[in-house]
Amino acid sequence: MDEILKQKIKQISENYTEEKIGGFIYGDGPIPCNILFVGEAPGKTEVEEGKPFVGVAGKNFEKHLNSIGLSRKDVHITNTCFFRPIKIKESSSGRTTISNRPPKTSEVNLFREVLNEEINLVNPKIIVTLGNVPLKRLTNFKSIGECHGDLYFNNELKRYVFPMYHPSALTYNRNEEFYSMYQEDWNKLKEALNKI
Ligand code: URA
Repeated sequence: MDEILKQKIKQISENYTEEKIGGFIYGDGPIPCNILFVGEAPGKTEVEEGKPFVGVAGKNFEKHLNSIGLSRKDVHITNTCFFRPIKIKESSSGRTTISNRPPKTSEVNLFREVLNEEINLVNPKIIVTLGNVPLKRLTNFKSIGECHGDLYFNNELKRYVFPMYHPSALTYNRNEEFYSMYQEDWNKLKEALNKI
């Protein structure tokens, strides 16, 4: 990722005091690149390895990416929020547990400029949004359920957008029907890539 953008992400994350955060990461992949995937925010494994989508959701993501003949080196991957939003819980016995939480709108907004600049630098033909957080940040759609698996031309971005479910949705919807629909969306992405 571009050094100036990295500096901005570092600065925004280190200066954020409203909530405790669990570290931050940068986008990953070639610049420029025809295909840009935008996720939500990194989790624990992503911060440990310094790369987006390398944890459990990332493994699902990569498996499906490979299933349509692409590998990580062919695509640029980034997030809507570049730090790991966390929830800290203290039990009555004094044990603390740290878990992920979705980023707040105000946290997404901290990175508006950064994500816009990354999109411009990567200059993709298509932006694939993963889940509701990047969908709402980059388009006027209200929910992934209404638009997943189709190709849209976004007049504000002046680019194609292809909304997909977040790969962690597979963890919450453990049924054959959802799995087939999700795999079908990847096949539709493959077709869309051949069209643009
Ligand atoms: N989930 C995301 O949305 N982004 C990551 O980088 C990892 C998991």
